[in-house]
Amino acid sequence: MTRSDGTGAGEAHGGSAPGARPATSAPAAVRGGGGPASFHAMWDELRPIGRHADSGGYRRFAWTGADADCRAWFRAQAESRGLAYEVDRNGNQWAWLGDPLAGDAVVTGSHLDSVPDGGAFDGPLGVVSSFAALDELRARGAALTPLTRPLAITNFGDEEGARFGLACVGSRLAAGQLTKEKAYELRDADGTTLPQAMERAGYDPDAIGADPERLARIGAFVELHVEQGRALDLSGDRVGIASAIWPHGRWRFDFHGEANHAGTTRLVDRRDPMLTYAATVLAARQEAALAGAVATFGKIAVEPNGVNAIPSLVRGWLDSRAADQATLDTVVTAVEKAAREQAGRDGIDLDVVRESFTPVVEFEHALRDELNRILGGAVPVLGTGAGHDAGILSAAVPTAMLFVRNPTGVSHSPREFAAEDDCTAGVLALADVLEGLACR
Ligand code: GLV
Ligand code: MN
Ligand code: MN
Repeated sequence: MTRSDGTGAGEAHGGSAPGARPATSAPAAVRGGGGPASFHAMWDELRPIGRHADSGGYRRFAWTGADADCRAWFRAQAESRGLAYEVDRNGNQWAWLGDPLAGDAVVTGSHLDSVPDGGAFDGPLGVVSSFAALDELRARGAALTPLTRPLAITNFGDEEGARFGLACVGSRLAAGQLTKEKAYELRDADGTTLPQAMERAGYDPDAIGADPERLARIGAFVELHVEQGRALDLSGDRVGIASAIWPHGRWRFDFHGEANHAGTTRLVDRRDPMLTYAATVLAARQEAALAGAVATFGKIAVEPNGVNAIPSLVRGWLDSRAADQATLDTVVTAVEKAAREQAGRDGIDLDVVRESFTPVVEFEHALRDELNRILGGAVPVLGTGAGHDAGILSAAVPTAMLFVRNPTGVSHSPREFAAEDDCTAGVLALADVLEGLACR
């Protein structure tokens, strides 16, 4: 194998103190030589960062102190391995083995940010496993054909969209699916804009935008991820391969009513948007059930947000996903129709805005088949309703995903889990895939 030394572009960080150490929910140890052995140390270093002591969940939001600490961790992992480290124009981190400019690179990685009170595995499992897989390849050493393609590990910024509302910002910008102008309009709950947040974190928001030259240098992107369901648990497999990602999107529903006194306003005189919102939540559930889709209102903002005030505004975000575009359209159209009808009855004004949308992703068959061949030909192939950077990149780059068994089936929650032996299996599978793709 070849090695490349040196570091890439610098970056400034304003890191915060890591949170308390977790009591549970990370693999206690991953035994074995090479990558499996290094997995444990990396996992231990990363897992206190951004963990909330009370909930046990992670709050690693884009461009915050916890995010900076995760990024510092990534950089340290890259540099301690002699990888060429760089940050791209959109703040995504890269660690290169081999010449980054040579082209046809094999890239692996995931993200380190989280949803509010997220689990330890969604994102970090892929990044930690990537470094561990590289260690495994190096441990295989002389037995290995030298690298014939450059290898890179990446951490895509702001995958979950927890702070600014749009998922996969780093990969969307790189792929040209989010323009600089639209990105500049993103604001967090405190009114901080995305460029302000990036600048405060030490990154240059003027630089953001499509990065076709970088994507053109990638021959294959493989993202390892914890499974966010129980298909592998039910089939008894440790590792699976992704077939497709359901089309999905986020819609903001603004219900405008009239603020008034909760004690003195007669029920018949009220224009209470909370009632219309509540009816819309029920409609979303019903329409999703009818269509065999999913629909969720998981985030809400209320103004003025006083216990003794009828709200003037209820803002709810609908996340809906389905196996195909027509079904998703049917669900969202029906939910909006139900909301408008109810709004008419309640004297409420309603605005609905689609904030993001990701069409169906069918992972490239050739790469998927290649992974299955490398892994012995009997790996289960699964679809998913979860979004991923791999899905965004798939429009520009041959892309594949590996899933690692999650016995709880729970994700976006501290109960998300992967057992020690399954993490090992994931690292070894990823190492086999990298070896199969980059050393042939
Ligand atoms: C990200 O995990 C999503 O599916 O929203
Ligand atoms: Mn997620
Ligand atoms: Mn993820």
